[in-house]
Order: sequence, then structure tokens, then C-alpha cells
Amino acid sequence: MIQKQVLFIIFIFLAFACKKDLAPISGCTDASATNYNSNAVIENDECIYFSTTPYTIEIPFGFPNMIIPSNNQTTLEGVYLGEKLFNDPILSANNSLACVSCHSKNYSFSDPNQFSIGIDNIQGNRNASALVNIGWNSSFNWDGSAATLEEQAFEPVVNPIEMHDSWKNVENKLNSNPEYLNLFSKAFNINYIDSTHVVKAIAQFERTLISADSKFDRYIRGEQQLSASELGGYAIFNSEKGDCFHCHGTQMFMDNSFHNNGLDIEPFTDLGLALTTKNNSDNGKFKTPTLRNIEYTSPYMHDGRFNSLEEVVNYYNSGGNYSSTVDPLMKKIGIGLQLTIKEQEDLVAFLKTLSDNNFISK
Ligand code: HEC
Ligand code: HEC
Repeated sequence: MIQKQVLFIIFIFLAFACKKDLAPISGCTDASATNYNSNAVIENDECIYFSTTPYTIEIPFGFPNMIIPSNNQTTLEGVYLGEKLFNDPILSANNSLACVSCHSKNYSFSDPNQFSIGIDNIQGNRNASALVNIGWNSSFNWDGSAATLEEQAFEPVVNPIEMHDSWKNVENKLNSNPEYLNLFSKAFNINYIDSTHVVKAIAQFERTLISADSKFDRYIRGEQQLSASELGGYAIFNSEKGDCFHCHGTQMFMDNSFHNNGLDIEPFTDLGLALTTKNNSDNGKFKTPTLRNIEYTSPYMHDGRFNSLEEVVNYYNSGGNYSSTVDPLMKKIGIGLQLTIKEQEDLVAFLKTLSDNNFISK
């Protein structure tokens, strides 16, 4: 009888010992067993349930709603992780170049060089776009080759003239980094870091790059007056006289569309949108860039051909060049806008009211 009892106790002991070994694989529960969760993990003998903190994106006065994919809601943990990745050269093959190297905050997340230089010292043929209010963009890159921020972020990491790494290698580097393992588990509840979650985090951070506190915004909100020269420029911008608003309209100062604004004659050296659509009627069309923080993002145009806003305004004043795909809104080809020197100065003064100092310095 005693022997039987001892055997029973040993059996119970073994059963518990086994159970303990298996427990962490299938989640854990609290003492009262009411919160069993198969994704929860044990940390310091405590059962930790997965939860993230929602990050509310404040939509500025007069802005439309932001396009946020339902499978990548913005969280505090995701944005924090995305910012760290954006600034970390770990995403490049020789660990020397980060996203921020070509998208520098001081320049509204653009590059003051005409063409950015990648890790192999090779120059591209496009000027690095400013990353400002890009959560409202419906396509990305000058030629619209990416449809979402998530999709866009896959590309620079493997681009031979940018970070020239492979996703397999980047995944290996991140998975052997305890800090990243911890941050990804907090943001996405994953134990293995894959490229999909890297781009999700980066996109979450990019959606927080919102600029809406320029002198122009304060004017719109009735908080500050514009000078006579700035108001004169605004009138030119917003009327048939300058005709800028058709393409750079609304408070976004872009139209989420593509145009040929008459920079070149045919044949074009860069086909722009046609490279994406394979349609000849898109030759020489490029995405309309926002003009927010334009003072900080020289040089200008897809190939950074103009160094100053004076040069840009001087170009538009010339009326532009005729080609088979030039936009019908470029109405003054061969005639020019015929702005006086003073009017051109006013237009530049207005463009500078779009500068948001807090955006680049905070
Ligand atoms: C070597 C410089 C370089 C690096 C590094 C780089 N970029 Fe870029 N980025 C560019 C250039 C140049 C463009 C314009 C590309 C084009 O249109 O062909 C661009 C375009 C973009 C755009 C499109 C913006 C728009 O409004 O269309 C986004 C978003 C972006 N980059 C994010 C990133 C992220 C995220 C990283 C890091 C994973 C990164 N970039 C790394 C140079 C760089
Ligand atoms: C037909 C549409 C259209 C009109 C009208 C237009 N733009 Fe543009 N603008 C564009 C496009 C498209 C680009 C980019 C072109 C490229 O790089 O090939 C651009 C580029 C610019 C840039 C350079 C932005 C950058 O980040 O490099 C500035 C500045 C600018 N435009 C200001 C103006 C002003 C000022 C006017 C009015 C005088 C004006 N635009 C009229 C479509 C237009």
C-alpha cells in the first residue's frame, strides 16, 4: 500500500515536470487561469500578454484623412522601432548607410546632393525625395513605381546603387540582435524578424512625418498675417497668372498625380512614369512633389537640375518646352508667364511661407 502511494507521488511529480517543460511553447495564463493566451510569453516567471499602444495620428486642420493600410495600424511600439530602423545603417550591406543618410531631417528628409551616393560610391540619376506628409501620397518614387510606403521600403535595402544588401542578410543581422528581437516582439508579437515586419515598422514611422505648422498654416488658421509680398505671391500661385495651383493645389501642395511640366524636349533621358506603366503616353511624366518645406529641399526636380527657387520660378516664367506629352496645363509654352521681376520675387517669398521650422528641428 505504502509502495503504491510512493509510486503515485512520483507519477504526479513526473507529470508536472513534463508539463512545465511544455508550457512556454503554447503560451501561458495567469494564476486564476482566466486569461489563457496562446501568444503570451513567460518573462521573469510572469505571464506577459501581447498588447500594443495605439498611436493616434492627428490630422491637421484642413487636411484630408490619411491612407493607413488596415493590416498595419500605427502603434507607439511600431513607430519607435521604425524610427530606429530608419536611422540604422544595419540595413545596408557594409553597415555604413542608413535611410537617414539620404533623407536627412535638416533638409526635410531629403538629400542636398543632386544625386545620392550609395554604399558602392555609385550615383543614381534621381534626386532623393523629401519625406514630408507622405502618409497622404497614393504612389511613391518619381515614376510611381511603388503603391504603398510598405512596398516602397523593400526597395532601397536591395537597390545596388543604394544600400545594396539582401533581405536574407538583413534578416540574419536583425535576428542575431537581442535588442531588435525584443522591439519586434513588442511591436508585432513575432519571434522571428522578417522583411515584411521591417517595412511595416518603417512605414509606420514615415506616416508620422507630418508638417503643418508653417507660416502659411498659421495664416490659414487665422493666427498670423502674411506680408504684402507673400500675399502677392499667393495670388499669383492661386490664379491663372502663375497657374501653379492646378498641380500643386490644396493644403497638400500636390495632386497625387503625374505630369510632364515641360522641362525637356524629346527624346527624354528619363522616361519617368512610362517606366512603370510601359505606356508611351506617360513618357516624361513625373510625380508632382509637394511644395511644403521647399526652401529646405534644394536641388529641385527629379534630377535636381535647379539649385534655387529663383531658378525654378524663372523656369516656369519661361513657359517650358513643347513635347508630345507636355501637360495641357502648361498653357504658356512659347509665350511665358510674363511675370515681372517683382512678381517672381513675390512668388518665391510665398513658397518660403511653406517652411516649417519645427518639422526639421524637433
Ligand atoms: C543612397 C540614397 C538613399 C537611401 C539610402 C535611401 N533612399 Fe529613399 N530615396 C532616394 C532617392 C534617390 C529617391 C527617389 C527615387 C526615385 O524616384 O527613383 C528616394 C525615394 C524615397 C521615397 C519616395 C518618396 C515619395 O514621395 O515618392 C521614400 C518613401 C523613401 N525613399 C524612403 C526610404 C527609406 C525608408 C529608406 C531606407 C530603408 C531609404 N529611402 C533609403 C535615395 C535614398
Ligand atoms: C502641369 C502641372 C504643374 C504646374 C502647372 C506646375 N507644376 Fe511645379 N511641378 C510639377 C511636376 C510634375 C514637378 C516635378 C517635375 C520633375 O521633376 O520632372 C514639379 C516640380 C516643381 C518644383 C520642384 C519641387 C521639388 O521638390 O523638386 C517646384 C518648386 C515647383 N514645381 C513649383 C511650381 C510653381 C511655383 C508653379 C507655378 C508657377 C508650378 N510649379 C506649376 C507640376 C506642375
